[in-house]
Amino acid sequence: MPADHVPATAFLTALARARATGAPDGGLRDPYAERFARLCPEPVRRITRNTAGTPVVVARTLAVDRLLTDLLADGTWEVCVNLGAGFDARTHRLDWPAGCRVVEIDRAPVLDFKDRLLPAADAAVPVERLRCDLRDLAALARLLRPRTVGRRTLVLAEGLLTYLTEPQVRALAGEIAEAVGPGGAWICDVLSPASARTLTTAARATGTELAMHGLADLTAFEAAGWHCERLDLLPTAQRSPATRELPDSVLQLRQAINH
Ligand SMILES: C[S@@+](CC[C@H](N)C(=O)[O-])C[C@H]1O[C@@H](n2cnc3c(N)ncnc32)[C@H](O)[C@@H]1O
Repeated sequence: MPADHVPATAFLTALARARATGAPDGGLRDPYAERFARLCPEPVRRITRNTAGTPVVVARTLAVDRLLTDLLADGTWEVCVNLGAGFDARTHRLDWPAGCRVVEIDRAPVLDFKDRLLPAADAAVPVERLRCDLRDLAALARLLRPRTVGRRTLVLAEGLLTYLTEPQVRALAGEIAEAVGPGGAWICDVLSPASARTLTTAARATGTELAMHGLADLTAFEAAGWHCERLDLLPTAQRSPATRELPDSVLQLRQAINH
C-alpha cells in the first residue's frame, strides 16, 4: 500500500510525535512515530509549517494520555475503541489493564499501511483493526455494537472531530452513545470555529485542501446524552467570556446513566 493513499493528517500527527520524541525536552516518548514519519511524502512534510504544529499535537497527545491513563486505572474497562486511530501507537507504548482489548477504526489505506509498520501482533494489548468511513454510521454500528454493547466501553477520538462537520459530529455522538451505553466514556479533542478557520486558511496557503471544522459549544454531544466531566485546554485555546463557548481543548465525556 503506497504512502500517497494515506491522508496527510495521519502523517502530520506522526511527524509531530517523532519530532517531539527526538527533542531533549519533548515530554512525549513515542518511539514508534518515526517508523511512519520517515515514510512521509515530501508534499505532506511541507504542510507542517502551516498547520497546528508540533507543540499543539504533543499537548493534545499528552492530554489524551493523561485522561486515558486515569480512566484505565480502575481496571474495569473491557473495550477501548479508537476512532480515526491513524498511526496512534498507544496499543504499543502504554500499559493496559488485563482484560481490556482495543478496537481501532480508520479508513482502509491508513490501517493497511499501519499493519505493515506497526503489527497488531506486537501490541501490549489485544487489538483489532477495522476499516470504516466514520461518516457511514450504519457501517459503524454493524462493526461496533457487537463488540461493545453490554461491555464497559471507553472511546478515543484524537484529531478526528475537526475533520467532521457539526451535523456529522452530532450523528457520530448519537451512534457512540448507543454503542457504549450508560456510564461509557469518550475522550476527544475539539477546536473552536475560529481556530478551525485559521488552520483551514493556513493549509490552503500551501495548496492543501485540509478543511477543518470547529464546534461552538457542547450541544452536539449533549443532544446525545454526553456530559463533559473534564476539559483540558490546548495551547491554542482562546479563553472566552461566553461560558458555553468551547475553547480548543481535550474533553472527557460521560454517557448519562438514564439517557
Ligand atoms: C489527525 S489524524 C489522528 C490519528 C490518530 N488519532 C492519532 O492521534 O495519531 C486523523 C485521523 O482520522 C482519520 N479520519 C478522518 N476522517 C475519517 C473518516 N471519515 N473515517 C475514518 N477515519 C477518518 C484519518 O484517516 C486520520 O487517520
